[in-house]
This record gives sequence, C-alpha cells and structure tokens, in this order.
Amino acid sequence: MVAKFPNKRNVRILLVGDRNVGKTSLILSLVSEEFPESVPAKAEEITIPADVTPEQVPTNIVDYSAVEQSDEQLNEQIKKASVVCVVYAVDNDDSFERISSYWMPLIRQNHPDCTCPVVLVGNKIDLVDYSTIDGVYSIMEDYSEVETCIECSAKTLKNISEMFYYAQKSVLHPTGPLYSVEKAD
Ligand code: GTP
Repeated sequence: MVAKFPNKRNVRILLVGDRNVGKTSLILSLVSEEFPESVPAKAEEITIPADVTPEQVPTNIVDYSAVEQSDEQLNEQIKKASVVCVVYAVDNDDSFERISSYWMPLIRQNHPDCTCPVVLVGNKIDLVDYSTIDGVYSIMEDYSEVETCIECSAKTLKNISEMFYYAQKSVLHPTGPLYSVEKAD
C-alpha cells in the first residue's frame, strides 16, 4: 500500500487533445483574458506565480502540438505532468471519441498506477446549444483518474479560469482514493 500524497510545491498542467480543439487558444485566453484571433501551433510553457493562483501554488501550463512534437516527447510530457487536461471540441464528435480510444489509454500507459488526475475539457461551447456532459460520465466510470469535467469557451472566456482552477484543485485536493494498492512482493 502506498500513500498518494499530493506534491504541493508545484503543479504542472498539461493540455492534450486532437488537433484544432483549441488547446493553445485556451492557454492564451487565460493569460491575456481575451480570445487570440491567431495562435501559434504551440504556446510557450507558462509559469504562474503562487500569489496569483487560487491555491497559492506555482503552476506551469504546458501546451502540446502534434505538429511540433514527436510521440516520444508527448509521452515524456505526460509522465512529467501532475494533471492532464484532455481537451475536445464540443462540436466535433471525433475529438470526443478519441478521449476513450486514444488519449485515456495513452495517459494510462504513462501512468499505469492511475495516479495522474485527468480533467476532461469540452471547448467551443459558444458554437453549440447542447451539452456533452452526459457522454462524459461514462468515461469517468471507466477511468477513475478522471477527476472532473468542464465545458468552456476560449472565445467567450466562459469557464476558462475555472478550468485551470479545477486542474490545480485535482492535484492539490484529489477526490479519488488516497491510497493505491501496489502489487505485493
Ligand atoms: P493544434 O495546434 O492543431 O493542436 O490545435 P489547438 O488544439 O491548439 O487549437 P487552436 O488553439 O490552434 O484552435 C484551433 C481553431 O479553433 C482556431 O481557429 C481557433 O480560433 C478556434 N477556437 C479555439 N477555441 C475556440 C472557441 O472556444 N470557440 C470557437 N468558436 N473557436 C475556437
């Protein structure tokens, strides 16, 4: 039995997800408090000082770009993350399907003990008049490391700061079991 004590010295938030779901836009919207009309393929890593985060913990936000990064680099970043936000676009069913078929298995492969919390993020809610949250619950049943889910819009800024707060909170105050059972020797 090993205790899963959260590391409170630093939170490293990694955003992953299919192309064009809005990962870079989410990060830049948070930082500039306005929607960037044009974005680079990948945002620079951002460090938010402790005193401006809700939980008073220095937080790094890391973008992922399939164009700029190899699979090895992606695996390395997933391993280093203290929380992974899997972003999908609510108007793109394929990006939603890929959470179960690709992203969650990949995260598990890199964290076989399921100790890395995951936040599912449905972006672009400004484009639809329905919610995708019902579909998310079945993913949460299959993957206990999914701490929570949130729908947001980088364009209207709806739920942007909340999304990063949920990510930070899932590391500092995980709702999952505090103990994981390791294989007996
Ligand atoms: P990759 O770099 O290919 O991985 O894409 P990404 O996931 O970083 O997406 P990016 O931020 O480049 O956004 C893709 C497109 O979606 C851009 O045209 C954005 O302007 C647009 N976009 C991002 N967020 C939103 C949103 O909340 N609403 C709307 N309507 N468009 C958005």
